Amino acid sequence: MAEAVVGMPISRVDGRLKVTGGARYAAEFSAKRMTYGVLVLSTIAKGRIAEINTAAAEKSPGVLRVITHRTGLQVEMPADVKALVDPQVGRPLPPLQDDRVHYHGQPIAIVLADTFEHATHAASLVTARYDEAKAVLDFAQAASQRFPPHEMETDRGGEKSSHYERGEPEQALATAEVTIEATYTQPDEYHNAMELHNTIAAWDGDKLTLYDKTQWVNNVQKQVAAAFGIDQGDVRVISPFVGGAFGSALRAWVHVYIAALAAKLVDRPVKLVLTRAQQYTVPGYRPHTIQKVSLGATKDGQLTSIVQEATAQTSTYEEYTESTLSAPRFLYACPNVATRYYLAAMNVNTPASMRAPGEATGVFALDCALDELAYALRVDPLELRLKNHADEDPYKNLPWSSKSLKECYRRAAERFGWSKRNPQPRSMREGRVQVGWGMATATWPTHRMPATVLVRLLADGSAQVRTAASDIGPGTYTAMTLIAADALGLPTARVKFDLGDSRMPQAPVEGGSMTIASVGSAVHAAAIAARHKVLALASADKASPLHQAHAAGVRVTDGRLSLISDASQGETYTEILKRHRQESVEVMQESKPGEEQKQYSMHAFGAHFVEVHVDEDFGTVRVARVVSGFAAGRIINPKTAHSQAIGGIVGGLGMALLEECIRDRRNGRVVNANLEQYMVPVNADVPALDVFFVDEVDKHVNPLGAKGLAELSLVGVAPAIANAVYHATGKRIRDLPITPDKLL
Ligand code: MOS
Repeated sequence: MAEAVVGMPISRVDGRLKVTGGARYAAEFSAKRMTYGVLVLSTIAKGRIAEINTAAAEKSPGVLRVITHRTGLQVEMPADVKALVDPQVGRPLPPLQDDRVHYHGQPIAIVLADTFEHATHAASLVTARYDEAKAVLDFAQAASQRFPPHEMETDRGGEKSSHYERGEPEQALATAEVTIEATYTQPDEYHNAMELHNTIAAWDGDKLTLYDKTQWVNNVQKQVAAAFGIDQGDVRVISPFVGGAFGSALRAWVHVYIAALAAKLVDRPVKLVLTRAQQYTVPGYRPHTIQKVSLGATKDGQLTSIVQEATAQTSTYEEYTESTLSAPRFLYACPNVATRYYLAAMNVNTPASMRAPGEATGVFALDCALDELAYALRVDPLELRLKNHADEDPYKNLPWSSKSLKECYRRAAERFGWSKRNPQPRSMREGRVQVGWGMATATWPTHRMPATVLVRLLADGSAQVRTAASDIGPGTYTAMTLIAADALGLPTARVKFDLGDSRMPQAPVEGGSMTIASVGSAVHAAAIAARHKVLALASADKASPLHQAHAAGVRVTDGRLSLISDASQGETYTEILKRHRQESVEVMQESKPGEEQKQYSMHAFGAHFVEVHVDEDFGTVRVARVVSGFAAGRIINPKTAHSQAIGGIVGGLGMALLEECIRDRRNGRVVNANLEQYMVPVNADVPALDVFFVDEVDKHVNPLGAKGLAELSLVGVAPAIANAVYHATGKRIRDLPITPDKLL
């Protein structure tokens, strides 16, 4: 079999398992004496539970137990073991610990029964009487009491302040030759992954095993252990497959603790799968955000001032913040910049990271504002961006580790045919359909965290590679197999890569588009080390044709090490290990970021060009064409990278045109907590997406030279579409999603 190397498009190594049902997701595991849990949720937005009636449920067929706050198993939520995925201020929702209700849809009880159906029925029989208090349910009301967050943790570049300023932004605005000011809003949006959140909790004495939908097994392990006051080593979290998460499974939400608590109380394994409706109030969502952008520029289009302000929704018990205002600080060259971030606390569940959190929202406002400025200046929107291209990071005052944004703009514009655009709004038509062209910039930071990987090279010429990472769908199994196979000089079929078990070596969260940079770098390092370890055996061995050979002079192909200078001199891993009577060599290696993080600013960039067709009579918007170019360093597997990129663009299309949570203003209930009324793009909404990658060699980001790709592809899609809609219709919709009613 031919060897696969990094950069070669290969199909998913777990593809067959997935399409044949062989891939096991958390809820598909079984246990003896399993019981099924169903949550009961609050029906008020704020107050106390005065009375909770569980008698009817307890008498219902098959019911084992109904657990409420009165049951009294104390669990201390780990306020002091916050991970980077948790809001740093506030306390997470406690699992059935007290009578307080913070929002509509908060878990107030769990019913355990012998079947899911019995539990579901019994859960419907639980009733509660509340002492209701006045809740904050109106965003405008909450925003009038807005406050700067006590801590911003999302900006990992070192800047912790919610307010940032350079130069004299207000004065520069006042004296600018041309200014625009506009307010943009985006509603709360939900991840809506196919797989529902689910956990199986099984205790064996004081040891707990959790099968969980999670993007970070090591963190669930740590936090659940802390909550139950047990040793971290006594909690095992298993999560080999995740059916999409988009940020919704970064944190361990309250249902995980409830499942563990319930299993402890009944001393039987508990399987808890949320319903689709419960997905909307148990995990988080992208927070409703309102942004005011003011831009100042010279007549010829040089930006002189950017002032961008965001007010984002959070809960009353935690301060969730995100990097909404990071792009305005560095995306364009501008001497005077101010960003101000505020929170508006409401009686809602805590928001969470969702699909390019922060940047998706911040760049939406910024790149729409830039489009407005382009019209005010009568400058082409692409030209305006080129004119204000940041040749180095104006925020960190550092050189970029690499940046190929201009190449993305140029090639995408060319493929799209941008030069044929008539700049006049409402000037392009096809029959009765208005045609509009718009564009925007994409950007995403290149994060990296420490990761540890175990590589075992076996005497049969195969390799085992493992680390406690997750694969939420992007193709992590495949990319890691490819990286290991490449470094070991083995065909991918001889490399077995495993992840998703907290007993494996530690890995970071699969979030922030940093898995390749973090885990991939560690896989690469550990595989190289394992290969060197085998070579060392041969090199020290007089009987080996590789006696005294150095690593730099040896290559490995199809499991055979040979001299680069003379391929006839060599032997296989198998020959070397067998002669040394070793079943395997094993290497456990950590790989982590270093000084380069302080020397360079690391981001991936891209550009989106979009054509929309708008029906003037009905106000319906169709995305007709998308051309997107991305520069994200080295692309490990172009096939799955392409899938990720088109997936991100589809997510951006949903954000632009469809996705919106609707809450009942009287009680805070999510009205459209289902996939019928919460709309996400379907195939009929998505045209052919023309995606390409710009070759980019980055020697600084990490040993692989790979930047984060996934979330990059979503950033800039919504503004490109909004800008195209303006070009088609002459109507500037600043309030997402762009639904027909707003265009009529
Ligand atoms: Mo992503 S929103 O970092 O899972």
